[in-house]
Amino acid sequence: MKIFHNKSELSHLIDNLKANNLDIGFVPTMGALHKGHLSLVKKGLSENDIVVVSIFVNPTQFDNKEDLIKYPRTLGADVELLRTVSDDKIVVYAPSVEDIYEGKVQSQSFEFDGLENEMEGAFRDGHFDGVGTIVKRLFEIVRPNRAYFGEKDFQQLQIIKKLVELHNIPVKVIGCPIDRAQDGLAMSSRNTRLTPNHRKVAPFIYKTLKSAKSKFGTKSAKKVSEWVEKQFNEQPLLKLEYFIIADIETLKPVKRKSTKKAYRAFIAAYAGDIRLIDNIALN
Ligand code: PAF
Repeated sequence: MKIFHNKSELSHLIDNLKANNLDIGFVPTMGALHKGHLSLVKKGLSENDIVVVSIFVNPTQFDNKEDLIKYPRTLGADVELLRTVSDDKIVVYAPSVEDIYEGKVQSQSFEFDGLENEMEGAFRDGHFDGVGTIVKRLFEIVRPNRAYFGEKDFQQLQIIKKLVELHNIPVKVIGCPIDRAQDGLAMSSRNTRLTPNHRKVAPFIYKTLKSAKSKFGTKSAKKVSEWVEKQFNEQPLLKLEYFIIADIETLKPVKRKSTKKAYRAFIAAYAGDIRLIDNIALN
């Protein structure tokens, strides 16, 4: 497996692939890879000749220094895991902060038609400027035909689709379903940092989302939200940050249900100091 730490070396390879008319799939990650990442890579391999996986813990998208410091960094294990999928059709790009930011570790400022102000944007200051900055930069370096993102970060997925549209970036952005552990917990690199007790209770998030979905059939968004808040109040090991039912296009909280619109329910909750997010399609 080829592993690049340097964008100019990767760029030579990309030039060669392009010269040979090969399709490039791209899976951007922050490492600590798990089954969820592998399913994105497998989907990429089924639709492209080569898949580039970037592994880079992007400092500008963290509003919490402690979270950035503690974010798991496991490059050796990540490469081994990728090898179980393919050794010759996957290319890893694991740059340094300097290779990406060239001395200026700063986000560009973006507007994504207001998508950036909802949910994660409201609770994590500057987060989507950081995400927009790194993803745009990575798209420029990797020049992929298709890029794959998990729906666990559904707001991020919608924002990246908007980024590509607003900046005319020639890449097809493909959203992939959430991968879950057997007990329903959405796969996340942060799960490895949960204490055994928090890990045991964390599937409560998905269980609550599923119940919220069934209630949404007959009840208003307000009633469902009140019910969810009550469930979390009775669950001492998890602290709900938000539960929001939103229109999937605007990501704005639903006021009055319409049969013409599609909705998702979104949760962010703390298990100790680990922040978990999850979501579910409602209709
Ligand atoms: O979803 C992630 O892991 C990150 O936000 C991404 C897209 C790799 C950008 O750093």
